[in-house]
Amino acid sequence: MKTRIFRNKKLIDRDKEINFFLDWFNQLPELILWVYGPKSSGKTTLIEYVVEKELFEDFENLKPKGNWWVKYINLRRYLISNYSSFIEAILTPEKDDKGKKEEKLSASFNIGVFNIKAELLNEVKNKEKDLFKVLMEEIQNRTKKNRQPIIIIDEIQTLEDIYINGDRELLKEFLNFCVSLTKETHLSHVVILSSNTVFIDRIYNDAKLKKTSKFFKVDHLDKSIVVEWLSSEGYTEEEINLIYDYLGGCIPDIQRMMFEKKEFKTLKEYLEHRAFLAYTEMVDFLARENSQEEEKIFREVAKIIIKDGKFILKDNSPNKHELIKVISKWAEKEILFFDPLTLEVKGNSRIYEKGMERLSYRN
Ligand SMILES: Nc1ncnc2c1ncn2[C@@H]1O[C@H](COP(=O)(O)OP(=O)(O)O)[C@@H](O)[C@H]1O
Ligand SMILES: [Mg+2]
Repeated sequence: MKTRIFRNKKLIDRDKEINFFLDWFNQLPELILWVYGPKSSGKTTLIEYVVEKELFEDFENLKPKGNWWVKYINLRRYLISNYSSFIEAILTPEKDDKGKKEEKLSASFNIGVFNIKAELLNEVKNKEKDLFKVLMEEIQNRTKKNRQPIIIIDEIQTLEDIYINGDRELLKEFLNFCVSLTKETHLSHVVILSSNTVFIDRIYNDAKLKKTSKFFKVDHLDKSIVVEWLSSEGYTEEEINLIYDYLGGCIPDIQRMMFEKKEFKTLKEYLEHRAFLAYTEMVDFLARENSQEEEKIFREVAKIIIKDGKFILKDNSPNKHELIKVISKWAEKEILFFDPLTLEVKGNSRIYEKGMERLSYRN
């Protein structure tokens, strides 16, 4: 495990994942890269690290490493409710800076937008020009100058249910654009991130996208890494085993434990408190949002997760449709995590599984 410093804080591990991205970017763009995994596993942090530290020589001054040309857009940072707010978010007009002093915008702002001529921007806004044609031209211009574009979009599910006009779905057209950038023209790398497993599942089961995509999972840390990390912070073997039993490899849960445990008499008491909170969250969701039938199915799934460490969605389960409905509902709530590639269902993080243990013996 290598510990790096990122934004004045420790970045734990991720050697394997960082190397994966660098290898990926050094190959010809052929497939869209989908990065998925449970909520809070560290996907956004990881990709931001790769962008700022591995793809740039000097990020603050936007000096790239080698010939990379990177656009990174986190859609969560904008309120995107319709097509024009999407355009506002990703396009900015070029300033004609003759005589005028341009205000210097931050690197993270600049990297998130395509800078195009004001006139062109107006044409896109008025739908006289197609957005994706304009973006394609912009990207072609970069490759002509021997730059290698990399486009990264986080929280892609924000684009669902947005229409360009009438029946043109923004997400569909955006994904077609991504296919043409990778598989068809090899002009640009495209990386798309999402925690929303229901969304990923839908994409994964779309035959065309499956053929044109690679799926890469960023999971919570493995136990060996947690052991290394917590040993270096001075925790004993016994404490580490206890922490891993309650929090697994969920980085923000472990970081929070480091801050909050002093408010409790013992480490065990703190961890029990966290499990209790996870338990009450589930009890509340059951009571408010689940029918009796859904509750029964959830409790069965939870029981198997506790017993076997995971529940596997089998093709031949008699109540497959009801199961999928309940699992999706709990995955949307970010309490369960469903991996569409392996069909495994687990707690979104380990603490929910500890909450499930309480559910099950209070059955
Ligand atoms: N490798 C890491 N080292 C240290 N902290 C991390 C690391 N990965 C994630 N975190 C912390 O965990 C939190 C959640 O991570 P985030 O990247 O937002 O997860 P995701 O995008 O998968 O939901 C962040 O606030 C971040 O500070
Ligand atoms: Mg994220």
